[in-house]
Parts: sequence; C-alpha cells; structure tokens
Amino acid sequence: MSVSTLPAPFKVERFDTDPGRSYTLPSRLYTDPAVYAWEQRSIFARSWTYAGHLGALAEPSCYVTCSVADQNILVTRGKDDVLRGFHNVCQHRAHELLKGSGRAKVITCPYHAWSYHADGRLRSARGSEDMPGFDKGEFCLKPVRVETLANFVFVNLDPDAPPLAAQAGALEQEIRAYCPEIDGLVLARTLTYEVAGNWKNSIDNFLECYHCHVAHSDFCDLVDMTSYRSVCHGIYSSHCGRAARMESKAYHYTGATRARQFGSWWLWPDLCIEVFPGAPNVNIFRHLPVGPEQTRHVFEFYMQSPTPTAEQDDAIRYIDEVLQAEDIALVESVQKGLHSRGYSQGRFIVDAARSDMSEHAVHHFHGLVVDAMTRHPPG
Ligand code: FES
Ligand SMILES: [Fe+2]
Repeated sequence: MSVSTLPAPFKVERFDTDPGRSYTLPSRLYTDPAVYAWEQRSIFARSWTYAGHLGALAEPSCYVTCSVADQNILVTRGKDDVLRGFHNVCQHRAHELLKGSGRAKVITCPYHAWSYHADGRLRSARGSEDMPGFDKGEFCLKPVRVETLANFVFVNLDPDAPPLAAQAGALEQEIRAYCPEIDGLVLARTLTYEVAGNWKNSIDNFLECYHCHVAHSDFCDLVDMTSYRSVCHGIYSSHCGRAARMESKAYHYTGATRARQFGSWWLWPDLCIEVFPGAPNVNIFRHLPVGPEQTRHVFEFYMQSPTPTAEQDDAIRYIDEVLQAEDIALVESVQKGLHSRGYSQGRFIVDAARSDMSEHAVHHFHGLVVDAMTRHPPG
C-alpha cells in the first residue's frame, strides 16, 4: 500500500479508546514501507529521542552523535558547561562533522577543514578571509533541542514539541526509587541485536507480560508474577514487580531488600529502561527502527564499576542468552504472521488489576501511534 492509498483522514478500523473493546493495530501498519516512512515524520521527527548517557558528556568538548528519523545529530558540552545539540552537518558543502563519541575542542570538518566552536559558531573557513561579503555568522551549526532525564540525554527535532520534563511526569522519580545510586553508575557493557521485525512489534512485546508464563519460565522464577503491574501514564508506562527469589533459575544474586525488585519503563516512542534485581544497575534498551521490518536492539548496562561483578555477569548472560533469545524469536515469528492472509487484527486481553495477564499497556502505545499518525497525516 502506498501513502496515497492510505485513508484520509487516517482512521484505524476497530481501534477503540477502551482497551477492553479495542482491536490491535492492523497488520499492514507493521509491514508497509510507506507507513514506516510516515512514522519517521509523524513520530520520530517529533519525539524525544535518546542520544546518550551523561557519562559520555561529562566535560567540556565531549560529544556524542545519534540518528533521529533520517537526521544525523551531535550533542556536545561547551566551555560554559552547557549541553547543545546540532545537526551533524558542515555548513560548507554538507559533509558529516563528527562520528561516534569522544572529545573535540574544535569541531573540524574532515572535508575542507572548516571548523566550529562547541557552541556552534563557525570558527574558521580556510580561504574565506578575502571573500567579499562572507559572513561567518551565516554559517553557524543548526541547533536541535536537548534535555536530560535522570542521567540520560535526549534530543528533539521538533522546535514546538512540549519539553520532555513536562511530558514524562514522574518517570525520573520512579527510576530513582528503584535505583537511588543511578548518578554513580557507569557504562559496563553494550549488547546489540538485529531483529527481523517492525519496531512496534518489538515494543508491543516489551509492554506486556501476558506471554511471560508461556515464554519466559526463568523470568517468572526471578520475578514474582503475582506482584507484577503495568501502569500507563501519558507518554510512558511502568512495568514492575517484586523479585521472587535470589537463587532463581535466571541468575543468582545477593543484596538488600531494595535489590529484590524488578523495574522497567517504556518511554514513547522506542526507549525502554530496566532495573534488574541485584546490585545497583540500570540498563537502556533501545528498539531502534532501521527499516520497515528491521529493528536494532541496543542494550547499555550501567553499573557501579565498568567491570561487572560475577553476579552481574550472570545477569547479563541471562538477558543475552535466554531472555533476548526468547523475545527475539517471538517478535520474528509475529513479524512473519503479520504477512499472513489469515490475520489482520486481534483483541487485547485486559484485566481490572492491570496485572501480568493484561495487555492494556500495548493498547496505550497503540493509542499514541494512532494519535500521532492522525495529527500528522502523510504528505
Ligand atoms: S564540507 Fe565541510 S569543510 Fe567543506
Ligand atoms: Fe518477553
């Protein structure tokens, strides 16, 4: 289906604001390249996107780069200690300025060596001194909005988007309640997975534990499913429960009462944050859309030392070899099923207790997708 054949105004058949009556998003929204392109404009180009951890931007001249929709962005800390975001493109003839992350007192373009200050001002342009009417002020880097939440840095391409702090409610307090040590954590491990599934399929799977008893037996041994609750708020949802046992089939850990809980959060549109039982930890779990039916999972594990303890190694091994393997198999099977001529939409199973059996948080996510696509039609 091309964009021109999508209904206008956009309406999702049988989607209802009541999760108990609503059908799921139609399968074509998970497979169609035109829908994917539309989402880049209607969702990703208007939302707060994770750019990196404050640890990578601790001092002046530090920078990180990231992609938002089809845009290449850099965030850097100036001499004045202010974080600033810019389009990562040279104002001469559009070469990329920076790659990855690191330090750059002066941002120098690798093509013809125009250079920029960390506050975005053009510092020098070789040969421009004798050019008539050459105004350096015309060639400053183009700014992008930056905000932080807990220790995480976000950017937004939309100058009119409401501030993240105003949209994210109590998310930061919730994360800090599960991990009061968050400010002292450092990057200890990164894991990346290529998943043959649409990003929404991947997020859907994160947002419910209805499948946990069926597909994650070790997780159900680690976390007491009778305590698991999913709560939706604005642009995020919380998915938390008590840890069931320290000597679980998933991994063994020691620790005080506070260590015996599992917290996880989803932040619109594609970011998840988790705190696993055990020593202080937080992980970032990104579901990066890389194509209509391709998603990259990137985990960043933050711990009290850059070298995980033996217990934390076990926890990471469990997430990597068991939990991720289980979830990726589910998502990839669903992606194939979304192409079936025998399927178009399902129903959400929900309960009043908003328990581990309930899919209301998936419905909450679908509602935000429908809302964004309705407010920003294609074209
Ligand atoms: S494109 Fe950057 S200096 Fe020419
Ligand atoms: Fe799962």
